[in-house]
Amino acid sequence: MTRNPLQPRFGDPLPGLSQALMKAWTDGRDDFESPEDVASGLGPIFNGVSCVACHNGPATGGSSPTTVTRFGALINGIFDPLIGLGGSLRQAFAIRPDVVEVVPPQANVVAQRQSTPLFGLGLMEAIPDATILANVKIAPVNGVLGRAAIITDVVSGTQRVGRFGWKAQQATVLAFAADAYLNEIGITNRFFPTENAPNGNTALLAQLDTVADPEDTVDPATGKTDVDKVADFMTLEGPPPPLPLSPSAALGRNVFNQVNCQQCHTPVMFTGPNAIPALSSKPVNLWSDLLLHDMGSLGDGIAQGAAGTHEMRTAPLWGLRASAPYLHDGRAATVDAAIRGHDGEGKSSRDHYVTLPPAQQQQLIDFLLSL
Ligand code: HEC
Ligand code: HEC
Repeated sequence: MTRNPLQPRFGDPLPGLSQALMKAWTDGRDDFESPEDVASGLGPIFNGVSCVACHNGPATGGSSPTTVTRFGALINGIFDPLIGLGGSLRQAFAIRPDVVEVVPPQANVVAQRQSTPLFGLGLMEAIPDATILANVKIAPVNGVLGRAAIITDVVSGTQRVGRFGWKAQQATVLAFAADAYLNEIGITNRFFPTENAPNGNTALLAQLDTVADPEDTVDPATGKTDVDKVADFMTLEGPPPPLPLSPSAALGRNVFNQVNCQQCHTPVMFTGPNAIPALSSKPVNLWSDLLLHDMGSLGDGIAQGAAGTHEMRTAPLWGLRASAPYLHDGRAATVDAAIRGHDGEGKSSRDHYVTLPPAQQQQLIDFLLSL
């Protein structure tokens, strides 16, 4: 079968971009793919040398099974991210092997987090805060409530509804790009100008940090830094392309509603007016309410941003067929296992799924693998 050239693929830009925006997308993708080295500011401690190292499947900007480690101490019900000891994110590599971070003995919570796909992030960013806030229920329905993650956006300095990351810890693509440059690669930038010290050891940091901060500098040709360019790339990434529904998948759509998955996995939200036509007043079929839910035993035990230890952002389900394994730590090899892993506010829906006849479970899975 030959491919219809009009049929979008994973990793394509948004449709209908101007020439200037197409160039911003390509330039940003180049930076997203290009590795940093010690001279350009890599580390001293880091988790990867480029964004694409963890965001690559099935195309640049996608996901990967690579996980990063979060740690902290839960004492009398209060979570301490152990910032003075290098928490809550561990950097697993270093430019000098003897300074690689370890999980300190003070930590009694350790969690893995999987690399998420970045397709369609500009559409997600363009959803107005008010639209996400409108998803919050006044009283629990089948045990489902949900809460918006109100955080301070480092870019604007204002209170915004967080929507990116497993904990909805960032509200904007630019803020997440800046956060990732510092915390995954060790590149300081105008939003995060201070280098991470290995397990909090500032004396070691002083020996190793030889590049002046901020390490992310303006490219005279474009007037943009790498953080800006990579944010452009992610903002202009097209959404995952859905598949036509097979007869079984079409039946699975009804099962999805019947067992109340849509209470959290909202099929569609709309973007507001936007300067970029491809992002303006568009449907976003992300299958998430972008709220935090108390997931009980599935929660990762880490408090971050507005999210408590058991709260997780409803994972968007678009592009699911390309992002296995599933759940925040990749514990679920299959969609079936991911559904069975739901707990807390997701328990009633999961319990309903478990009692369905196998044929209906299969229809639901066929549906989810078409999104
Ligand atoms: C070592 C692997 C690794 C590297 C390198 C990495 N990331 Fe990530 N990325 C992750 C993980 C893990 C998450 C989920 C983080 C979380 O929520 O705790 C993530 C999440 C994200 C998100 C949030 C997407 C969403 O689902 O809402 C963005 C945006 C992002 N990364 C951008 C970048 C950029 C830009 C770079 C390069 C500067 C980068 N990442 C480098 C592992 C990585
Ligand atoms: C209470 C809200 C809620 C309900 C109801 C719910 N989910 Fe989820 N779902 C979540 C959250 C939150 C996550 C992310 C949890 C994590 O990984 O820690 C998630 C994750 C998933 C994932 C894994 C996604 C990934 O990228 O790893 C799948 C698949 C999924 N849900 C399917 C379903 C299906 C099917 C139903 C109905 C049977 C359902 N969910 C009901 C909140 C919910």
